Amino acid sequence: MRLVLLGPPGAGKGTLAGFLNKELDIPHVSTGDILREEMKNNTPLGQEVKKYVESGGLVPDEVVIKLIKNKFSNGEVDKGYMLDGFPRTEVQAKDLDAILTILDKPVDYAVYLDASLPVVIERLTGRRICRSCSAIFHIKNNPPKKEGVCDECGGEIYQRPDDNEETIRTRMDVYLENTKPVIDYYNAQGKLKKVDADKDSQEVQENLMKIFDSTGG
Ligand code: AP5
Repeated sequence: MRLVLLGPPGAGKGTLAGFLNKELDIPHVSTGDILREEMKNNTPLGQEVKKYVESGGLVPDEVVIKLIKNKFSNGEVDKGYMLDGFPRTEVQAKDLDAILTILDKPVDYAVYLDASLPVVIERLTGRRICRSCSAIFHIKNNPPKKEGVCDECGGEIYQRPDDNEETIRTRMDVYLENTKPVIDYYNAQGKLKKVDADKDSQEVQENLMKIFDSTGG
């Protein structure tokens, strides 16, 4: 299956991607994870994007489009893909379609996780991430079994620097201005599947699987 996951910061894109990866074995490509890895390794790209990521702004289109082109050229996504955090602008959406048309791997569905601002703030201020494997936790909804230690790999758990309330509000504004039009773009193509992401994770997953079943996905 070939999917893009859309929705505001904290809607649960990464969490859903983890579920779909286990359930349907679809490769997960998160531009946010790729950028944070570059920052962690202090590469020239990591240094270039740090100011955008940590302030909640968008990294320039040409930088992320290049990352996605690399992913598609090395065969990692031959059997399907799940793009998380990309595309985020109309320019990115159109460039992605151009790349996928050449590869004959068009998007099947754009899954839109629709979540409200109070829910997003509660989720992101309580989110914790594994520094090694990027597994996602929440201090109340989904705490690690041992405080500060990842259940999956034993790695160190940390809080993303952009998960503070001020930066979350900036990210939400950036989302409304730049990414909302991408939702209209996929809706116009008849590919949009909307899910109420204010619901708990299990309900979100079940509702999405029902949509896939009803559409033969
Ligand atoms: P990115 O990493 O993509 O961040 P984001 O879009 O802001 O999304 P998040 O990762 O914050 O949230 P999520 O929806 O994945 O939620 P999660 O599943 O973790 O991007 C970061 C930055 O990189 C951007 O600001 C930008 O600077 C740059 N960037 C990335 N891509 C770019 C691009 N294409 N162009 C330009 N710049 C780009 O869940 C959140 C929390 O809620 C977790 O604690 C989880 O346990 C909990 N939770 C999830 N779902 C539920 C549920 N249903 N019920 C209860 N709790 C839940």
